[in-house]
Amino acid sequence: MTETPDQAGPLPRHIAIIMDGNGRWAKQHGRIRVKGHEAGADTVDLVVRSCAEIGIEVLTLYAFSSENWLRPAFEVSALMRLLHSYLKRETGRLVEQGIRLRAIGRLERLDSAVRRELEKACEVTAPGRTMTLNLAISYGGRDEICDAATALAREVAAGNLEPGAITPERFAEKLNTAGLPDPDIMIRTGGEYRISNFLLWQLAYTELYFSNTLWPDFSRDELLGIIHDFQHRERRFGRVLEGGEGTSHDLEIKG
Ligand code: IPE
Ligand code: IPE
Ligand code: MG
Repeated sequence: MTETPDQAGPLPRHIAIIMDGNGRWAKQHGRIRVKGHEAGADTVDLVVRSCAEIGIEVLTLYAFSSENWLRPAFEVSALMRLLHSYLKRETGRLVEQGIRLRAIGRLERLDSAVRRELEKACEVTAPGRTMTLNLAISYGGRDEICDAATALAREVAAGNLEPGAITPERFAEKLNTAGLPDPDIMIRTGGEYRISNFLLWQLAYTELYFSNTLWPDFSRDELLGIIHDFQHRERRFGRVLEGGEGTSHDLEIKG
């Protein structure tokens, strides 16, 4: 049975996903890794559509990490080709669905044809108000934090900023994700329990979900199940909630 988001519970505003497991999916099916990435692209369509329908404001997809440049050249170019054809194929549909495309990462490393297609897609989808689809491409959380620090250091050196005036809010304005809410949910598929340099700053208080499903097999039902679970989690952000002064489960420390 399909689980649906709980009408009473809060909907996540921002869902971020590490789409992992394409290579293992291909291996399971006796195919080359690139076939896994192709199958993964279909899951991207499904998840984008589902999130827009549910009313999610921002969906961030980790499509290619700064470390993924170290994969064999053949695989890197196949991934770039896939990204290029995804943009060519989907831009019109994103416009129809009111989905605004945005990209984060060191985009200057992308080859010029892919970059041009990406810029075009971001431009024509800009008026979209249904959802923001944020693609992390050539993205690394440490790069992003270093770039923000560099930008602030330049302002300090130019005499336009006091070092003491650097706050978390000011810092966040220099990140690629400036203006977006932090993710409420981070999902990693593929059965690995790590962050792999994804949104290191932004995940500070995100609810984490690790799924053993390989990305090409990830379904709308699993997504809905995660959202449903999220709606029943208690997020405390370090505080004690009203009426949460202690339960019978609290450990009593005896002296
Ligand atoms: C994720 O799948 C896609 C990218 C990193 C681009 P992988 O290619 O990492 O798949 P596995 O982890 O080898 O199964
Ligand atoms: C993370 O997956 C990057 C993306 C999904 C784009 P990887 O497969 O590259 O991460 P590791 O190597 O398992 O940490
Ligand atoms: Mg992987």
